[in-house]
Amino acid sequence: MTALGVYAPAKIVTNDDLAQIMDTSDEWITTRTGIKRRHVSADDEFTSDLAFRAVEDLLRRHGPDALAGVDMVLVATNTPDALFPSTAALVQARFGLRAGAFDLLAACPGWLYALSVAKAYVESGQAKRVLAIGAEALTKVVDWDDRATAVLFGDGAGAVVVEAVPEPYGLRSVVVGADGSGAGHLHLGSVGRCLPDGSQLSDKLYMNGREVYKFAVRVMNTATIEAVDKAGLTSDDVSLFVPHQANLRIIEAARDRLGLPEERVIVTVDEYGNNSTASIPLALAHALDHGRVAPGDHLLLVSFGAGLTWAAAVLTWGPWTAAAGGGDFVAPGARTAGPDATGPSAASELGATTA
Ligand code: ACO
Repeated sequence: MTALGVYAPAKIVTNDDLAQIMDTSDEWITTRTGIKRRHVSADDEFTSDLAFRAVEDLLRRHGPDALAGVDMVLVATNTPDALFPSTAALVQARFGLRAGAFDLLAACPGWLYALSVAKAYVESGQAKRVLAIGAEALTKVVDWDDRATAVLFGDGAGAVVVEAVPEPYGLRSVVVGADGSGAGHLHLGSVGRCLPDGSQLSDKLYMNGREVYKFAVRVMNTATIEAVDKAGLTSDDVSLFVPHQANLRIIEAARDRLGLPEERVIVTVDEYGNNSTASIPLALAHALDHGRVAPGDHLLLVSFGAGLTWAAAVLTWGPWTAAAGGGDFVAPGARTAGPDATGPSAASELGATTA
C-alpha cells in the first residue's frame, strides 16, 4: 500500500441531532455503540462523489503522479450510484486512467476483499498498480423510521494504491470468508424480491442487530487468529489493531480476546459511525495522521458484515503513505499532524517483492 486518501462529507449529524427527529438519546447511542456523530452526504452527493474526493485527497497527499500506471480500479461498495455502470468505471473516467474497472460487493469487509483481489492481481502480474477504494453513501439507504439501525451508519470513502513493495513491507496475509445461510440477518433489496429461503428483501437497510452482534464477536476472533497465524506472527507482534468500526462494544470484545492493550487499537466509530467499506481506510488515515503508525509496524485489520461475510489481514506498514497536512485538505478525523512521509514513487524504485 503506497498511497492513501480519505474523505468524509462536511455535514455532521450528532446523536443529539438525531434525538430531535426520533425516539433516541445520546446516552443510549453512546453506551450501546460508542458512536457520537456521523458524517452525512448532501442530497446531491453520491458514492462516486465520495470516491472522487478520497482519490483527490490521495493526490493531494502524494502528488499529481500518484495515480501514474494504475491499471486496475476496484470500488468496494454496498451503495453504488447505479447497478451499472460500476462506480469504478466512473472513477476511471474521472481521473483519465488507462485501467480496467469493476465494483466488488462483499458488504462491510468489501474493502479487505478488494485488497485480497489487488494482491492477487499484482502477484500474478495481471496488474501493476491497483486503486482500491471503499466508498459508501449509507445514509441514503437506512430506514430513518428504524431507530435501531438509523443511528449506526455514516458516509465516507477511502482510497489506496496497492502495488509490489519490498520485504518486509506489505500484505503478509489476507483471509476472507462467507456464510450465506445468515443472509436474512442483514439485507437491502435490489432487483429480486426475496432471498432463497423465502424471506422478503427490504427496500431499506434491514438488520437483526443481536444476531449480527453475536456473529461479529465470534468471527472477529476466529478471522484475526487465522490472519495472524497465516502471517507467521502471534498477537504479541501486532502493533496496531484496526477493526471495522461498527460498535465500540464489538471492538472491545475483539481486542480483549486478542489480549491487546487499549493503546494498540484504533477507534474512530465515535467520529464516523459505521461507514462499511470506508471504515478501515478512514481508520488507517486517522492512525497515520495522529502519528500512531510507523514503518515496520504490523497492523491487524478485520471486518464483518452482510452476506454474512468476514475478512482479516495483516499488513506491515511501509514508509510511503503520507499523512494529511501537506496541502489545504486535512482528513475530517485528523485532529493532529502526523509524521513526515516519503513520496509514493519510492516504491517503484525499490524493486518489489510483496503486494
Ligand atoms: N435509541 C433508544 N432505544 C433504542 C434504540 C435507539 N436508537 N434502538 C433500539 N432501542 C431499544 C430497543 O427498542 C430495545 O428496547 P426494548 O428492550 O424495550 O425492546 C432496547 O433498546 C434494546 O435493544 P437491543 O436491540 O437489544 O439493543 P442492543 O444492545 O443489542 O444494541 C445494536 C443494538 C447497537 C444494533 C447492536 O445489536 C449491534 O451493534 N449489533 C451489530 C450491528 C453491526 O455491527 N452491524 C454491522 C454490519 S452492517 C453491514 O454489513 C452493512
